[in-house]
Amino acid sequence: MNENLQSVLYLVAAVAFIVGLKRLTSPATARNGNRLAAIGMLVATVTTLLGREIVSYTGILVGIVIGSAVGAIAARRIEMTDMPQLVAAFNGFGGGASAFVAATEFIRHPGAIDTRITIVLSVLIGSITMTGSFVAFAKLQGLVSGNPISFKGQKWFDGVLAMAIATLGVLLVISPTSLEFWILTLLSLVIGVTRILPIGGADMPVVIAFLNAASGLAAAAAGFVIGSTVLIISGALVGASGLILTSIMVKAMNRTLIGVLAGGFGGTSGPQEEIGQLPVKRATADDVAITLAYARSVIVVPGYGLAVAQAQHVMKDLAAALQEKNVEVRFAIHPVAGRMPGHMNVLLAEADVPYDQLYDLETINRDFSRTDVALVVGANDVVNPAARTDANSPIYGMPILDVDAATTCVVIKRSLSPGFAGIDNPLFYLEGTLMMFDDARKALSDLVTAVKNV
Ligand code: TAP
Repeated sequence: MNENLQSVLYLVAAVAFIVGLKRLTSPATARNGNRLAAIGMLVATVTTLLGREIVSYTGILVGIVIGSAVGAIAARRIEMTDMPQLVAAFNGFGGGASAFVAATEFIRHPGAIDTRITIVLSVLIGSITMTGSFVAFAKLQGLVSGNPISFKGQKWFDGVLAMAIATLGVLLVISPTSLEFWILTLLSLVIGVTRILPIGGADMPVVIAFLNAASGLAAAAAGFVIGSTVLIISGALVGASGLILTSIMVKAMNRTLIGVLAGGFGGTSGPQEEIGQLPVKRATADDVAITLAYARSVIVVPGYGLAVAQAQHVMKDLAAALQEKNVEVRFAIHPVAGRMPGHMNVLLAEADVPYDQLYDLETINRDFSRTDVALVVGANDVVNPAARTDANSPIYGMPILDVDAATTCVVIKRSLSPGFAGIDNPLFYLEGTLMMFDDARKALSDLVTAVKNV
């Protein structure tokens, strides 16, 4: 293929990635953005296949068939709640691919000066991302314990490994030898495991977002190694967006990235025997239906329990039944509600809840004090007032949705069990809170019937 044409097609692909990414920022344009970025990837792949010195297409075709089949089946079968581990697995393969590309280039031209730094970076970051992501996958899939796993002297061990890797990296850049290269690769694979194992399940989504960014950086480095502009651009985009996402998540969970990577947080914590011991006000579907139907405004706060119960469709039915009675219904979305970024947006979009009814934390928080009913469905930590009031709470300082400011707060969940952070929630015992104990789907469907009868 003509080199100019190739450059133009790569430019087209890069523009498609950037515009696609921009469109992912709003739920209304997200599907379209995803499609556009996928088309960009197709253009980049085809251009590469036609433009490079491909010796044989057989292996490539076999790879495409197997990869497409696995990808299509995984995308169809995977439950929404299992999405974080799927992303982790994808990151792992992405990091591994970059490391393989760089390793192949090293084997072909071990002494090449101009690509040494990027080869070292690509193998280093790619290998760490690969094993680290597979450990994250195993933790979230329940194949290994979600609690922090560490051994005595772990931090020293990792420190020595990191220093050895840095020294080998420098030596490889100065005068490369195969032995140093393979030891560096091996140590990078090992540190990926030993650094992620001590991190608890609670922090795993942050780790996945960070590893996603790392896989992008590894790909960008691999792009420099093989002189592929489109790989550099796409890797840099993944790296930058992954870092932005990581920063949003650590902020919303009141953590720091260093704190997360240092590990040791996120198993079950707190005095479990003290949870759920105080009296609460219980309410039936009929009680809650009357409160909702006579309200002027209702703000719904969806959480992880809504996703578990797959109650998004019946949630929309309840909103529609209330809107028929001229009740204003809005949805308040906390940035870390659920178990993955954008979890609630995706869930509600699946049920065709109009995007203009969705409000983020900063926009809606001041409206709770002017709202008749806050309806909390399967959410817990993201509405826990201890984050504002209890300096000893593990979630102290995390921004929360101020549902306790509404005239009445109705909480739908099955019991007084804690949420992800493993701590009690003072909201449940407040004067203005009504607890409706049931599975979210069953409770909401009872409410739809009861509201229609009011
Ligand atoms: P959680 O605090 O985890 O609470 C979810 C609640 O849902 C539980 O208390 C549970 O109580 C209830 N529930 C479970 N199944 C249910 C069902 N079938 N019907 C009704 N209720 C059900 O959820 P949240 O408020 O969405 O907060 C998210 C938490 O996850 C935060 O701590 C956040 O930091 C963490 N986290 C989020 C992310 C992202 S990116 N979203 C990533 C990692 C961690 P019962 O068992 O009593 O029903």
